[in-house]
Amino acid sequence: MNSSWWREAVFYQVYIRSFADGNGDGVGDLAGIRARLPHLVDLGVDALWITPFYPSPMHDHGYDVADPRDVEPVFGDLAEFDALLAEAHAAGLRVTVDLVPNHSSHAHEWFEAALAAGPGSPERARYLFRDGRGPDGAEPPNNWPSVFGGPAWSRVPDGQWYLHLFAPEQPDLDFTHPEVLADLEETMRFWLDRGVDGFRIDVAHGMAKPEGLPDMVPMEDTGLLADHGPGDHRFDHDSVHEVHRRIRRVLDGYPDRMAVGEVWVSDDDRLAQYLRPDELQLAFNFKLLTADWDAAALRTAIEHSLATVEGTPAPACWVLSNHDRPRHVTRYSDGNADGTRRARAAALLQLALPGVAYLYNGDELGMPDVDLPDEALQDPIWERSGRTERGRDACRIPVPWSGTEPSYGFSSRPDTWLPMPEGWGPLTAEAQAADPGSMLSLYRTALALRAGSPALRGEGIEWLPAPEGVLAFRRPGGLVCLVNLSGAPVPLPEGELVLASSDVTGGSLPADTAVWLTAG
Ligand code: NOJ
Repeated sequence: MNSSWWREAVFYQVYIRSFADGNGDGVGDLAGIRARLPHLVDLGVDALWITPFYPSPMHDHGYDVADPRDVEPVFGDLAEFDALLAEAHAAGLRVTVDLVPNHSSHAHEWFEAALAAGPGSPERARYLFRDGRGPDGAEPPNNWPSVFGGPAWSRVPDGQWYLHLFAPEQPDLDFTHPEVLADLEETMRFWLDRGVDGFRIDVAHGMAKPEGLPDMVPMEDTGLLADHGPGDHRFDHDSVHEVHRRIRRVLDGYPDRMAVGEVWVSDDDRLAQYLRPDELQLAFNFKLLTADWDAAALRTAIEHSLATVEGTPAPACWVLSNHDRPRHVTRYSDGNADGTRRARAAALLQLALPGVAYLYNGDELGMPDVDLPDEALQDPIWERSGRTERGRDACRIPVPWSGTEPSYGFSSRPDTWLPMPEGWGPLTAEAQAADPGSMLSLYRTALALRAGSPALRGEGIEWLPAPEGVLAFRRPGGLVCLVNLSGAPVPLPEGELVLASSDVTGGSLPADTAVWLTAG
């Protein structure tokens, strides 16, 4: 078990709409991924996570799945997926895909049948239909808010309500219904039989709901930022673990396959429960992604993440950015701070930590968020929040590959599903590949060292004494990582310099810089 391929792997998240467009419609697709496999091999990642590419009306850009066992024509077809999988495997890359169990699309045949069949029907029993409260049942059955804003309930013409923790076009499934779990298992086998190496499980702390769907502790619009702590009955219900045990049983029927859960549970002990030997192999730890650029905050994030996995079979699983949160270049750019410089240091921090690292497409180019005009916004959060929250489009801009004008080699056409800004020529992979000082070159070097150097081996870290505002730790293999968040230069300790995120000369470690050292 300790030698499993994923335990120290670097995964690369492909947000499919924004990675590479192979057919010239302005939307990324499977053919685009195939064409860009050489970039991923040169980068040095071990595995891909491809976000949902299944048939979908795209109310949540693929996280509203109408058929989990087919391919959305915008993204390609099953033959294209099989070809991508074969080519990725031949290139030494593993491929994992998204599993979206908590909800289906409203266009799923089950939901269409549920609407047609009416109250009390077996068709409705696969979802969470309930009568409303108040006179004529005109009030929602409970007080739960949708993560995307507004109530988590929508009313259908015959007067019943159905639950949707996300958009109304994403009705929640009822996991107490045997067919729901059986169908999930069938979906898993469908992709495992094709040869995928594992799954990323969407809303892995969802699925199970408490009996009777009681009111939750009222909170202001919780938004995606909520940590779903005690009293929030929508998530992290104890019976979710039975679902994970069923998922694990399917995975265990295939050699070397894994699942990582999107588990937005901040309590270490509650999160650790998802990592018991018969549940998930990995759970994203979002504490790095939610920590400010601050030594104490980052140290706390690292300590909690390591404490979570201690006593479980799982390694830690580090995330700096994904398609749901502002990118870290932008998060770290507060005030006059240079977010790119800090992101370079953060990359060396993330990649020096023991366990698994997930990169989000564009991290390796130092992509920032892009503020889009109102008319370009596509995320359902924008409309659901009454146009008060701009949503997640800013971190989903297509990846710039080459050239000096939009769409920078992303597509054969200049206009893309989310517009790309002027001035991104220097950000392209092509421009950065030619520059040894670029973010891309830093990632390539760091990943090559991580893969090849015994100094980066071993579980756990030892914190080292360091000046105020500086993080310093040693890996069992001997690598020392220092990150200077103090705002001023500090003396560089003795040792052989392996890699630095910014220029390190004159025996000091400048502000917002990380280094990797060995004993020399
Ligand atoms: C989490 C996904 O990462 C997010 O993009 C999606 O909107 C929700 N789950 C709902 O599926």
